[in-house]
Amino acid sequence: MNIEKLRKDFPILKDGKIIYFDNACMSLKPVQVVRAMERYYYEFPGCAGRSMHKIGKRTEEEYAKSREKAAKFINAKHGEIVFTKNTTESINLVSHSIKLGKNDTVLTTDKEHNSNLIPWQRCGARHEVIVTNEDGTFSMENLKKILNKSVKLVSVVHTSNIDGVTNPAKEISKMAHDAGAKVLLDCAQSAPHKEIDVKRIGADFIAFSGHKMLGPSIGVLYGRRDLLEGMEPFMTGGDTVSRTTYRSAEFLKPPEKFEAGLQNYAGAIGHAAAMDYLNGIGMKNIERHETGLNECATKSLSEIEGVGILGPRASERSGILSFNIEDIDFHQIALMASEMGIMLRSGQHCVHSWFASRGIAGSVRASFYLYNTRDEVDKFVDALKKIAALR
Ligand SMILES: Cc1ncc(COP(=O)(O)O)c(C=O)c1O
Repeated sequence: MNIEKLRKDFPILKDGKIIYFDNACMSLKPVQVVRAMERYYYEFPGCAGRSMHKIGKRTEEEYAKSREKAAKFINAKHGEIVFTKNTTESINLVSHSIKLGKNDTVLTTDKEHNSNLIPWQRCGARHEVIVTNEDGTFSMENLKKILNKSVKLVSVVHTSNIDGVTNPAKEISKMAHDAGAKVLLDCAQSAPHKEIDVKRIGADFIAFSGHKMLGPSIGVLYGRRDLLEGMEPFMTGGDTVSRTTYRSAEFLKPPEKFEAGLQNYAGAIGHAAAMDYLNGIGMKNIERHETGLNECATKSLSEIEGVGILGPRASERSGILSFNIEDIDFHQIALMASEMGIMLRSGQHCVHSWFASRGIAGSVRASFYLYNTRDEVDKFVDALKKIAALR
């Protein structure tokens, strides 16, 4: 990976004044992605699936190519990819569209983002929680204990946005399937950073967001073809049907039946460019680079008095580093770091439930991506030393 070269693709990094470590929330966009979207807006700003003219046909082709790329990106088939607004909408789609009754149970972990918690609290089924280990790692034993015949879905985060721990997706899928349950993986924090092979993992649904992986705001839902076919659409309207009468509607096959109305064509086209960019670098290289930065940052931070790090050792936390400094408010740390040019996230990271259950008020989170460097990590460590010295 030639980081110095690729950093030139991200204009905000050009003068070195900004250190961007809030990638778990929103990634930066390379010029290639913005240009691809510009091309759509300037050259063929049509809609797919409706118009016979050349501009519409071009939009349709590019939209279909993006779907094909998203499928390849996770080793799925193109009919198994539904475009949505974001991970949140992808999960809501599943929670509204699979039929669950009050005697059914949905399991999540105790570390879910609100986007993979609230939909299950409101889906009409019972919702129960798999308790993770003290260090934040997944407990297969606790999953085994809680699984029973009423469990119809196990919906778990793949990589945690609190502490970066990646759950053993393949093993979870196997255990859930053996018990007769389906599996949804929230891949918002894994798809941007590591290779995902849905067939190898065996998940039935996966959800992720383009905006966390160099792309614009768009979401992706993967669903096993036979399951999508059996599901009711979440939203209905134009482009979801082949025919309507005043009393009835005939729905198209998936994915179309789930994509109501005109879609985010620019988003899909930008997302395709982002996936090309990531593939060009290689997901394995990206993962290795980020884990390396995290190991280095963790080692240096652990040597600063008063710093406490959430989760297990760095090699198990991908590119996410959540921490606190004793006696200093986490928001104050993020504000001071911002004044020094370092962008961090602070608070409960949309996982209020976990912070409340552990009696932790919040944390500061640094999250790394492919364009971050060792030099930036050193500057971040120096900044934290200065902040910690204020105690
Ligand atoms: C683990 C996890 N799940 C779901 C989401 C929701 O993603 P989005 O806001 O793109 O829908 C996030 C966002 O930070 C996340 O980190």
